[in-house]
Amino acid sequence: MSYETVSVEKRGKVAVLTINRPDKLNALSSQVHAEGVAALDQLRTDDTVRVLVITGAGEKAFIAGADISEFEGQTPVTQRDLFHQRSFFNTIDTFPKPVIAMVNGFCLGGGNELAMACDIRMASENARFSQPEINLGIMCGGGGTQRLPRLIGEGRAMEMALTGDMIDAATAEGFGLVNHVYPSDQLEAETMKLAEKIAEKAPIALQLSKEAVKFASRSNLDEGLRREVDLFAICFSTEDKKEGVSAFLEKRKPEFKGK
Ligand code: COA
Repeated sequence: MSYETVSVEKRGKVAVLTINRPDKLNALSSQVHAEGVAALDQLRTDDTVRVLVITGAGEKAFIAGADISEFEGQTPVTQRDLFHQRSFFNTIDTFPKPVIAMVNGFCLGGGNELAMACDIRMASENARFSQPEINLGIMCGGGGTQRLPRLIGEGRAMEMALTGDMIDAATAEGFGLVNHVYPSDQLEAETMKLAEKIAEKAPIALQLSKEAVKFASRSNLDEGLRREVDLFAICFSTEDKKEGVSAFLEKRKPEFKGK
């Protein structure tokens, strides 16, 4: 299937999904939301893809937020529908494979919310982050008030949500909003290196690890520990567990099959 506002490129076991509206700084229109979800649905069942990288086209922006020009025509009902449970944000959050955001410039509003729905964030030195919705007389609606405090703490999240101010990449790294920052010309190579490393691991163990880590901020400790041990036990039913253990004992590299 081909799309107008997103493109998907497969590089070995890694798929790169690019939001492709550079003239609008990759703003999230309703078409981007729909095509993004459709692309993820295809990649979900593609066994050749083990890791997904999401980025923005061009050198200036990852995603400069929701497409503000569409706000005029939105009613409370249509806007709510766009951000429903099967939204682009939530589809990334619940995607069964690791997702890395490659943040190559402005990462604002819905862009920052989309990056936060990913599992790991890699940023270039020129990346800038904000939740500027407050400047439009509205508030975060794609997870900003929920995922941001869980990542960086309530006080910092509150300041970002209430001021709309931009922070630079070094500050975002210090806050824990991004995992790593690289010079722009190294971002892609470093992101691919990380993606390829993860793509060699056992897919079912990756999926269950992601589920368990995400559960940590959604449960109390006892529930989380119970969920973890159940998921850990499921790993013992896989062929990849046999392969991983045998490979270690035989002093060779494991070949994981996702079974
Ligand atoms: N929605 C729709 N269009 C957007 C957009 C958005 N969120 N962000 C940028 N664009 C468009 C601009 O309207 C402009 O289009 P045009 O060339 O047809 O006029 C184009 O992208 C380039 O942006 P421009 O504003 O000219 O670039 P800049 O370098 O002067 O400023 C930003 C960059 C990111 C500071 C500025 O575009 C901006 O503030 N964008 C909105 C950010 C925002 O509030 N996002 C949250 C929405 S809830």
